[in-house]
Amino acid sequence: MPETSLSQLEPHWMPFTANRAFKRAPRLLVSAAGMHYTAADGRQILDGTAGLWCVNAGHAPEPIVRAIADAAARLDYAPGFQMGHPGSFELAGRLTTILPGDLDRVFFTNSGSEAVDTIAAVIVEPVAGSTGVLVPPRGYLERLRALCDRHGILLIFDEVITGFGRLGAPFAAQALGVVPDMITCAKGITNGAVPMGAVAVRRGIYDAVVETAPGGIELFHGYTYSGHPLATAAGLATLDVYRTDGLFDRAKALTPTWEEAVHSLRGLPHVVDLRNLGLMAAIELEPRAGQPGARAFDLFVDCFNRGALVRAAGETVCLSPPLIIEPGQIDELFGVVRAGLKQLA
Ligand SMILES: Cc1ncc(COP(=O)(O)O)c(C=O)c1O
Repeated sequence: MPETSLSQLEPHWMPFTANRAFKRAPRLLVSAAGMHYTAADGRQILDGTAGLWCVNAGHAPEPIVRAIADAAARLDYAPGFQMGHPGSFELAGRLTTILPGDLDRVFFTNSGSEAVDTIAAVIVEPVAGSTGVLVPPRGYLERLRALCDRHGILLIFDEVITGFGRLGAPFAAQALGVVPDMITCAKGITNGAVPMGAVAVRRGIYDAVVETAPGGIELFHGYTYSGHPLATAAGLATLDVYRTDGLFDRAKALTPTWEEAVHSLRGLPHVVDLRNLGLMAAIELEPRAGQPGARAFDLFVDCFNRGALVRAAGETVCLSPPLIIEPGQIDELFGVVRAGLKQLA
């Protein structure tokens, strides 16, 4: 970006960003296709994080782009209260074909945050993602399920990150063999192309609210953009791409290669732990004295300068590539991380 236009960056108060440092040395992405972003200076950046854990099918697959464009031209908006449009019903139906157990009722939101609004229950991420890929101990989720059953407590999985193939199955519930009462999801539901979230519930929960209500509106809850036509078009096209390209199975098949690459970093400077499950990984670094998170942030910047996108989260660097990643690109990604680790202060 030209020096003269830096003042143009000031008005935007960026989310989850060190604003002052970013605006002094911006990292701007201007386009994306497949496994790569193009940076403002024209460099190709290998996407090691699926954007923000959401672009599971890779960037801008043609069927998803076309579906969104067609939907925008056909039906730009339809009110979702006391009204509907065919796309949201079709998407809900399609989602139930990949959801676990009897979770076959779906409420649409616009994000993962909205999907966890309203709730008195136990809610966990099956694998904690943005806190550093914390893999659950063996038996932990099974025990949580048993405890919730024993005490009549609803169990909710936040699958905003783990949903849509990240662990080599549609949801972590299937990959880890534990079925919750509700699942919240977002991100990969539209491959990140249009904001959307969803809450899937077991039929008994839906019936308890809807079938027992005296009449009128059963649940006073909803959003202006619930089940938006563009989002549902993107969601349907995304599910098609996942199925046609077999991306969930592909993630499963790539997992051993991924695991080997993650653990090839063992013994490198500052690495204190390496964690992985499915196509997720975290490299935990020894903190720099008095500067929490600084070492992981430096590694993130260094990797970007070397041409790969990774994500700094506290003392860890997290990796979650699109599920279309090729084995050679896994080598390339970890080659960049390895080079970065070797020169890290
Ligand atoms: C596990 C989890 N839940 C919820 C959210 C919030 O999702 P959103 O940013 O779509 O509101 C995130 C975002 O990264 C997440 O990682």
